[in-house]
Amino acid sequence: MVATLLHEIPLQGGDVTDGVVRVGDTVRRPVGPFTPAVHALLRHLEAAGFEGAPRVVGVDELGREILTYLPGTTGLRAAVVTDDALAGVAGLLRDFHGATAGFPLARGGWQAGSNDDAPPEVVGHCDVTPDNVVFRDGRAAALIDFDLARPTTRLFDVVTALRHWAPIADPVDRHPLLRGLDVGARLRLFCDAYGVPPRDRRRLLELARLRFHRSYDVMRTRAATGGGWARMWAQGAGQRIRRAAAWLDTHEEELRVHLV
Ligand SMILES: Nc1ncnc2c1ncn2[C@@H]1O[C@H](COP(=O)(O)OP(=O)(O)O)[C@@H](O)[C@H]1O
Ligand SMILES: [Mg+2]
Repeated sequence: MVATLLHEIPLQGGDVTDGVVRVGDTVRRPVGPFTPAVHALLRHLEAAGFEGAPRVVGVDELGREILTYLPGTTGLRAAVVTDDALAGVAGLLRDFHGATAGFPLARGGWQAGSNDDAPPEVVGHCDVTPDNVVFRDGRAAALIDFDLARPTTRLFDVVTALRHWAPIADPVDRHPLLRGLDVGARLRLFCDAYGVPPRDRRRLLELARLRFHRSYDVMRTRAATGGGWARMWAQGAGQRIRRAAAWLDTHEEELRVHLV
């Protein structure tokens, strides 16, 4: 046990989960009620030959999940704000959705979250932030952190990714690297690279608005459970959602031009 602990390297980058560590070629993460569903999904992805997700190794002697460590880099930096990087994230998300085909959408046990009203089409990742995409050799290579995965529409997962990657956010809340970007052009680029059909493009901004309202309530509920969610809420996550929704309302017409 002591030998194991000595070789634990804390991994930071996510805001939420305390105690994520690297041990050799593995990652150890705390489990939750949703972990069995997530492991079933990751095993399905492995069987489908999808390379862009960690593999489940098991559970360690401390009750933590053991996943494979995926080499590469996570987090926001200049190299992941390029058009090529954005197109790569869109392609990775499309391939992930494709690989979930055949996974039973009726399976329960996922972490609750905001969602689309339309019937689910795929199991979505639902948290495609820069901290949750591994880049390797300059390309978006893998998704990690499937704690929020749940059945949803493809478009809902696209909207969630665009919230962070376009980004759909008030400039006052954006990382400096994301401030000068042409958000409308990036919405279009992402949709083109993913292959979002015209009908879904026309619904994208409306769904983004719906998601903001629902996410605010979900985040507030999660914050009441304490831990990382409470920390995020105390640091203004709710206010950032409110400002992002207001920014979207103000800019909706100019963004819409890119989605017709
Ligand atoms: N399987 C993995 N391979 C490589 N890095 C990982 C892996 N899992 C987590 N990490 C690293 O640890 C960070 C935090 O882990 P994550 O699972 O995203 O937790 P959180 O719930 O806090 O976001 C990630 O941003 C990433 O840098
Ligand atoms: Mg994370």
